[in-house]
Amino acid sequence: MSATTDVRRITAPELRARKGGEPIVCLTAYTAPMARLLDAHTDLLLVGDSLGMVVYGFDSTLPVTLDLMIAHGAAVVRGSSRACVVIDLPFGSYQESPQQAFRNAARVMAETGAQAVKLEGGLEMAETVAFLAARGIPVLGHVGLMPQSVNSLGGYRAVGRDDAVAARIRADAHAISDAGAFAVVIEGTVEPLARAITAELPIPTIGIGASPACDGQVLVSDDLLGLFAEFTPKFVKRYADLGKAVSHAAEQYAADVRARRFPGPAHCFGMKKG
Ligand code: KIV
Repeated sequence: MSATTDVRRITAPELRARKGGEPIVCLTAYTAPMARLLDAHTDLLLVGDSLGMVVYGFDSTLPVTLDLMIAHGAAVVRGSSRACVVIDLPFGSYQESPQQAFRNAARVMAETGAQAVKLEGGLEMAETVAFLAARGIPVLGHVGLMPQSVNSLGGYRAVGRDDAVAARIRADAHAISDAGAFAVVIEGTVEPLARAITAELPIPTIGIGASPACDGQVLVSDDLLGLFAEFTPKFVKRYADLGKAVSHAAEQYAADVRARRFPGPAHCFGMKKG
């Protein structure tokens, strides 16, 4: 099944124009079937490099490759027709130089059909954001807790309690906005700081573990659905417990197979009549 093309997709400039308006609804998606289910309810589908942990079982996002992001990004584009699809640039694919970032972001855009890319970083990435934005690649920034920097941060704790760190996050957000990002994700940042940044920036902020005042919210879908049971961060609200449902279904199937209750006559092909 392929995505329908009759519905016009939400664009990055349209999301940019939502500053201070109707909240932007964003969820992660990594596969075509999940994109199909989420598309009608979201403005932005993020193919996050969190797929490294959620789908592939890595203990950080660092091992995720560009090829992996492109394969999953193309699947999400095929499975959706309305939401703006944004694909994460993975660790090591953009930090070296604006030229490296452009080369890899251009591959992502051309090979997936996505509307934009996301990259982590503040002041040090501003030149790169400007380079991409000036060459036709809309960029979603990502400041505050930046999972690709987990080794420098020493963990996934919320940031911004310390004055110096708070000042840096604020400067990061302004730098990314000034450089031409259409919006910026604020992750794992103390609420008053995320609120203040949202009030100051001319572009929308999309919060995750940030503030209800942000211009939009994003969650990892598997967290919201209760599918990623290993760990549930404080900022996640679970709207379903599909992990339990999957486990229960597998348990019943196993019992049926062991007792020879499945397959039944309804699941078998008969001989040709006549
Ligand atoms: O990789 C991801 O899913 C993200 C979101 C959590 C913002 O970056």
